[in-house]
Amino acid sequence: MTRVIHITDLHFWRIVRNPLLLCNKRMLGNLNLLLRRRKYVRQERVAAFIEQFSTLNADVLLIGGDLTTTATDAEYKMAAAFVDALARYDAPIYITAGNHDLYTFESLRRKRFESYFGDRIETPGAPRMTLLPGGAPLLIVPTARPNFLSSRGGITKTQLTATRRLLEQAPDGPLIVLAHYPILPCTDAYRSGLMRRLGNADALRRLLGETGRPILYLAGHVHVYSHIRDPLFPKIEQVTSAALFYEKERHPGGFTEIVCDGPEHTVYPWEYCDGWRHS
Ligand SMILES: [Fe+2]
Ligand SMILES: [Fe+2]
Repeated sequence: MTRVIHITDLHFWRIVRNPLLLCNKRMLGNLNLLLRRRKYVRQERVAAFIEQFSTLNADVLLIGGDLTTTATDAEYKMAAAFVDALARYDAPIYITAGNHDLYTFESLRRKRFESYFGDRIETPGAPRMTLLPGGAPLLIVPTARPNFLSSRGGITKTQLTATRRLLEQAPDGPLIVLAHYPILPCTDAYRSGLMRRLGNADALRRLLGETGRPILYLAGHVHVYSHIRDPLFPKIEQVTSAALFYEKERHPGGFTEIVCDGPEHTVYPWEYCDGWRHS
């Protein structure tokens, strides 16, 4: 049995007061933070999550991106300290970047994500395959990129080709995929506008679906829990986890626990409501 914990969209935040750091898209992100986001991203719950995590007996921790909000060094330091605290519980940790981790072209140029998360991330810009404890293959697909204004994701032809090669080499059996963006733009739980979705999701979806193998696709970005079977490729199950520290009326904070037992798996969403509990 392998117990996988999936957390995503931590959105550690720090308001930027240095005008020199605001000469780009961060100006908008900082304004949004001042007016809205800081009220519902409850980063003071870090300790409560670490305590909960210590009781979960996780075999592996997957982090689906958006660890930061406007990708400043200050936010990255908070996120890295949190990940280091979770690493004390000995479960391997794998991370993929979200669009907020590459919020500005400057953050990409300075390789901030790579410099803070070192060998926990995929080779910058390239998909990566590894084996989880228990032997199930894990495919990490980069889907985030910086944008001038939108929150759109993307996967290039080169990245798709590399993903295809990894899929061909993967051992048989169920596959877990970790990415930031969902491959399904709309479900009963969320609806992603054109400027917020993965640009060429269909190409990735087809590539995965045409393998004909069972795939559990884990994503974030939409900030709500959902669990659905792909109507076109029914061997793909997609799970999106809630934003870890959220506290919004219809968007409580959450994470997902997945228990894999041979070819079977069970998915348990956890939610924060005066403490962590799962349904
Ligand atoms: Fe997010
Ligand atoms: Fe995102």
